[in-house]
Amino acid sequence: MNRSARLITPHLINPHQSTQTPTIQNGEAHMTDSLRDTATPTAQSAAVDLNAPVDLPNRIDVTDLNIFYGDFQAVEGVSMTINPRSITALIGPSGCGKSTFLRSLNRMHEVIHGAYVQGSVVINGHDLYGPGVDPVAVRRKIGMVFQRPNPFPTMSIADNVLAGKRLNSRRMSKPDAAELVEKSLRGANLWNEVKDRLDKPGSSLSGGQQQRLCIARAIAVSPDVLLMDEPCSALDPISTLAIEELMLDLKRSYNIVIVTHNMQQAARVSDRTGFFNIKGTGKPGKLIEMDATEKIFSNPGEQETQDYITGRFG
Ligand SMILES: Nc1ncnc2c1ncn2[C@@H]1O[C@H](COP(=O)(O)OP(=O)(O)O)[C@@H](O)[C@H]1O
Ligand SMILES: [Mg+2]
Repeated sequence: MNRSARLITPHLINPHQSTQTPTIQNGEAHMTDSLRDTATPTAQSAAVDLNAPVDLPNRIDVTDLNIFYGDFQAVEGVSMTINPRSITALIGPSGCGKSTFLRSLNRMHEVIHGAYVQGSVVINGHDLYGPGVDPVAVRRKIGMVFQRPNPFPTMSIADNVLAGKRLNSRRMSKPDAAELVEKSLRGANLWNEVKDRLDKPGSSLSGGQQQRLCIARAIAVSPDVLLMDEPCSALDPISTLAIEELMLDLKRSYNIVIVTHNMQQAARVSDRTGFFNIKGTGKPGKLIEMDATEKIFSNPGEQETQDYITGRFG
């Protein structure tokens, strides 16, 4: 592990090995199960203050983030805390900067020429934008799943899972590779569907399976955080449900941030929701409010949010 990767995970906590207190574990497990049983936001426990910063590894603290494409400011003044072991949904009209903001959380924003960020994104006590931090190491610890499933089409299913890992580390032995493929595909709820055809190309899978393959590829590198930008927008309802169930599983181990244009989806899967809005073309997007998902969808604090969730926007 190089210096920057260590910077970002100083606690060296494997997200798969739970070392937290039983209270928190039980609380999490309870919330997950009740959410899955009823699939409504009201299932969230009223006793838990979802807005309280959770003192666990991999919490993200964003402060005064301004995001630019050259002269154009796309996002202004965002501050938020993103708690680990939960799902945070980002909603808002097209063009309000949700994807831009998401990409700034793993330093993918700056791959665009002229693009830059002001402000801080702190995880585990270190600013991702601090001096000497290697953006490539950041992207390994904070993985991203995109709108359109993007497996390498001619690469086998197994090699797709290993692709990120192979970029990042020395050679793996065959048994180690096979083990990682199985573990990641199981983690992505895809193993049973593909275990007999691991050598077939990634493109032989359905869209929903391809997206789960991309999630398997993302978790194969053991990230701390998973960012998902409208991961279901290209999928049918059945595949969408499979991904939503997977997200509820994954939140036991990961800090998940999802951008979605589907408000029912945000209501079904997320613990907290942030609403972004934009005043007009050429203006920067802003975070209007962030709160427990149940509150945002039943009794938001801002009229703008109310207008948006009830379809009166625009
Ligand atoms: N690569 C880019 N270069 C310049 N401007 C961009 C780029 N990507 C997005 N933008 C602009 O940034 C703003 C926010 O876009 P985006 O983050 O994609 O919004 P959303 O995901 O909420 O629809 C928009 O005005 C968009 O045109
Ligand atoms: Mg977008």
